[in-house]
Amino acid sequence: MSKLLRAAVIGVGSMGRNHARVYAEMEDVQLIAVADVDQAAAVRVANIYGVRAYADYRAMLDMEPLDLVTIAVPTRLHREVAEEAAARGVHLFVEKPLAGSVEDAQAIIDAARTAGVKLGRRPHRAL
Ligand SMILES: NC(=O)c1ccc[n+]([C@@H]2O[C@H](COP(=O)([O-])OP(=O)(O)OC[C@H]3O[C@@H](n4cnc5c(N)ncnc54)[C@H](O)[C@@H]3O)[C@@H](O)[C@H]2O)c1
Repeated sequence: MSKLLRAAVIGVGSMGRNHARVYAEMEDVQLIAVADVDQAAAVRVANIYGVRAYADYRAMLDMEPLDLVTIAVPTRLHREVAEEAAARGVHLFVEKPLAGSVEDAQAIIDAARTAGVKLGRRPHRAL
């Protein structure tokens, strides 16, 4: 049997909830945890799938053995979260738009390259 990819979602608002649902449905992926500053939202989504909830995504990145993470926080925070995840060697799947500025988008690309992690951005109609 091939290895399951261990995934988490950061930001479980409108879009992050969809990512959590799809990860939970995928055969080759194991949803491990979700994080959201709105702790009640994190717990609500985590309870649906029987996974751990974190209010602090950095704590989740430090605690959980993740292969990849969806970043579905508000766009202005994509860069900060992507840099934190990439620095820990976690592959990135970022909601669109990748960033709010060209500078932030380039910083995310650079962070992924430096860390040697894959960077994916959701195309239209993937969910
Ligand atoms: N809603 C849509 O139809 C839609 C469509 C396409 C793309 N997107 C993109 O998806 C991303 C998220 O949008 P959304 O509509 O789901 O927003 P949302 O406001 O519904 O959800 C964002 C979530 O992120 C959480 N959050 C905020 N700061 C955080 C932090 N520091 N750490 C952890 N969680 C934090 C919020 O509490 C919230 O639950 C954005 O980049 C947006 O452009 C949204």
